[in-house]
Amino acid sequence: MRKLFEEHDFLGVMHLAAESHVDRSIVDPMAFVQTNVNGTVVLLQEAATAWGNDPTRRFHHISTDEVFGALGPDGAFVEESPYQPNSPYSASKAASDHFVRAWGETYGLSYVITNCTNNYGPYQFPEKLIPVVIDRALRREPVPVYGEGSNIRDWLYVEDHCRALRLVFDEGTVDSTYCIGGEEELSNLELVELILDTLDELQGNDPQSSRSLISFVTDRPGHDFRYAMDISHIKDSLGWKPSIDITSGIRATVSWYLENQIWAERVTGDDHDSFQSEWYKERGDE
Ligand code: TYD
Repeated sequence: MRKLFEEHDFLGVMHLAAESHVDRSIVDPMAFVQTNVNGTVVLLQEAATAWGNDPTRRFHHISTDEVFGALGPDGAFVEESPYQPNSPYSASKAASDHFVRAWGETYGLSYVITNCTNNYGPYQFPEKLIPVVIDRALRREPVPVYGEGSNIRDWLYVEDHCRALRLVFDEGTVDSTYCIGGEEELSNLELVELILDTLDELQGNDPQSSRSLISFVTDRPGHDFRYAMDISHIKDSLGWKPSIDITSGIRATVSWYLENQIWAERVTGDDHDSFQSEWYKERGDE
């Protein structure tokens, strides 16, 4: 990182790199400390060393709604919500948010933090719910739904998130936080049914025939019941709102995975690094 900062006159950093899968964090928490906490502190140190307190250089830390803990059936998180992380993953992201704020206060590093709800879309690693459902359904294998499928998440299409990030990076108020969300709350069961029904339609199967693959499995320990964001602040101050509703977003996502099944297979294989660099080289900036 030091070499990179010495070689390039970076105008800013958008820090998206993270271990992000809750189930994996329950099995191997230290990897999350290493990547999400130590990794962030390394970047902060190098950015602060290279930039000092130059207000034109900005450190944008991308974080999650999960730092705020779990909600009951009502209400939504706001920028001022207290931190109450429940999983090793969310605790590691909460820690990294605090380190970013501390670098702002202590070393004068200019920063913005964004906390976002669940993302989905093309290229999502096949460990997250949506690609798992698509993968299992294509193989006609059981689709695992934790508990009774009643947990609620708010879903944001990845391109909408990218638009929000660009806007906050360019125009967000320095040393502040923005909550980002899709305003699309669904129970896991509702979402899984939507994905399976979309797949049936796109593949010409009997309507709703893939729903028979749904298999209720043992719940995740400490499974947060519900996340939701109040996105008034980013709407009012920067004029951003999500543009892709869940039905069209899921259709685009399922279509992408159908057309790119090779990616989902190879990206989990032993040679995933070389496969990925070839894949992106062939496709340029697509
Ligand atoms: P996930 O994509 O892991 O995101 P997060 O836990 O960060 O919200 O899971 C989304 C929801 O789906 C979550 O409530 C757990 C649930 N889930 C299942 O029911 N089955 C699965 O196989 C997975 C991976 C998740």
